[in-house]
Amino acid sequence: MLNAALAETPGPLCRAIVLHETASTQDAARRLNLKPGDVVTAGRQTQGRGRLGRSWCDDAGEGTAVTAVLHRDAPERLAIAAAVAATLTAESILKRTVGIKWPNDIMVENRKLAGILVEQSSEIALLGIGMNVLQRSWPAELKHIAISMAELGVSPERCRVLAELLRTLNEVLRWDQDQLIDAFSARDILRGTRARFRCEEKEIEGVVSAIDPMDGLTVQTHGGEIRLPAATTRVLKDEERGQSVSPDRRGR
Ligand code: BTN
Repeated sequence: MLNAALAETPGPLCRAIVLHETASTQDAARRLNLKPGDVVTAGRQTQGRGRLGRSWCDDAGEGTAVTAVLHRDAPERLAIAAAVAATLTAESILKRTVGIKWPNDIMVENRKLAGILVEQSSEIALLGIGMNVLQRSWPAELKHIAISMAELGVSPERCRVLAELLRTLNEVLRWDQDQLIDAFSARDILRGTRARFRCEEKEIEGVVSAIDPMDGLTVQTHGGEIRLPAATTRVLKDEERGQSVSPDRRGR
């Protein structure tokens, strides 16, 4: 089914490998020496990795976890393509609009439905996408920050979600920069809100007045408007304010 989905939409991805269980599909792609064009997914991912040293928990195997192997590219472009593909997939299944919180959290009702992780070596990029599908209960620390399709009233088969995601990803990966930015901007939920950022060891708070997902953010602070580069900026969560970040936190 997944190989048929890839064949239906021409694009850089052409072969799907399905594992019963793995610790992380990112590591499986490396261990199996997969090449650009390959995609690996698993029925159950036991030690999924998130961004910034966080974990991506789905011990019961109720979500989808997939890693696409691509040629190296600008990490911002890969992350935005994956965020747009995950968002369009969720919109087509849930029949509602879904938001993207810069840089690449897929959000519904202020909770996270899907996340993106880009890891690159000198030759390849590993584009990891995790999506919450059938979960109905969460560990206490995720209860108020994660959400699944089932909790939104739609319980699709996970392989249907994966097939839709791979079709969409193959299409979106062929888009040019303007198409990607337009699709991102139409769903951007950070613009217009007040947020706190860490950029090159400094904390900055202000209202986000513009986001160019390839380049950076414009933030209106008390001291005036400043530009924060995408590559060195991240949004701080409430509990991180004024703190350093523990590398092994569990979370979305
Ligand atoms: C995040 O929001 O922090 C990113 C989460 C990325 C999770 C996916 S699931 C598939 C792939 N394998 C992993 O170990 N992580 C990514």
